[in-house]
Amino acid sequence: MPSAIPRPNIQFHDLHPTLADFRHEAVAGLRQRPRRIPPKFFYDERGSQLFDAITATAEYYPTRSEMEILETRAGEIAECIGTGSLLVEPGGGSCAKVRILLGGLEPVAYVPMDISRDHLHAAAQELAAEFPWLEVHAAHADFTQQMELPPGAPEGPRVAFFPGSSIGNFDPDAAVDFIAAVAELVGPGGFLLIGVDLRKDKAVLDAAYDDAAGATAAFNLNLLERMNRELEADFDLDAWAHRAGFNEPLGRVEMHLLSLRDQQVRVAGEVFDFSAGETIHTENSYKYRIEEFQDLARRAGMDSVGAWTDRKGMFSVHLLRNMAAGGA
Ligand code: AVJ
Repeated sequence: MPSAIPRPNIQFHDLHPTLADFRHEAVAGLRQRPRRIPPKFFYDERGSQLFDAITATAEYYPTRSEMEILETRAGEIAECIGTGSLLVEPGGGSCAKVRILLGGLEPVAYVPMDISRDHLHAAAQELAAEFPWLEVHAAHADFTQQMELPPGAPEGPRVAFFPGSSIGNFDPDAAVDFIAAVAELVGPGGFLLIGVDLRKDKAVLDAAYDDAAGATAAFNLNLLERMNRELEADFDLDAWAHRAGFNEPLGRVEMHLLSLRDQQVRVAGEVFDFSAGETIHTENSYKYRIEEFQDLARRAGMDSVGAWTDRKGMFSVHLLRNMAAGGA
């Protein structure tokens, strides 16, 4: 239960993010060929619940593999970084995985940044109550638009935390740009601790993104239901199917929504014609070998300090450092 009484060790900062416009971006994406809708729109309230359901399936290994790595390596990671840092988590609205690190890392402050304001506030409140010694600066911000710290955050060697293989949603060039922006945020000598899913057997990846219980299918199809709810759309859910699979040459799992027949759909007052077999591309999830990701990080100006995997070798956590001149 989030406490209603503000804790003395928490501050909220409104960095006034420009909120993504679902109506505008969905319609623009549906007009394109191939048609596409960005994966950030999966996460309405229902979508966030369905994502949690995915992480509980037997086939979706990333979450529990990453937790295993963080739990086994927290001490080692803290030794590399040292205590007293300013710990920043872009997209850290749920403040969940960071709990594993706090005891060993003893940061001077924790800065979760997220566009989902209410979710961020409730989770940060709970975290601050659970860790009364920790200064929490929760920032309502869109890290893809503004990679900056809220005013008043204390000084300390800066560490960014980006778990979950969220980096997989970026095309490789955009991933380089993102890591370069993080490198600038943490400054010379600063760190990035990042979760990255590993390239592996196609069969394992295909199953992870098309689980038998249908959690991933429901998550993908929720995008159509969300358009029905919010954009006066009239998608017939029986005429669409979830399609996902590893695209080996491109090194990414792709998710699509497949039109099962020729059909017309109305979205936000506009009529769209879909032919049978046509898809809406909803997500890419890139997978990297350890060295492949280290090369990508180097292109962004960050060097590898450590890389760890779980016992089964499914997932990796990288510790990167901005080695620019002036670094500690
Ligand atoms: C949250 C982007 C890391 O790509 O594995 C899970 C999202 N999509 N199942 C991923 C997702 C389908 C997930 N990320």
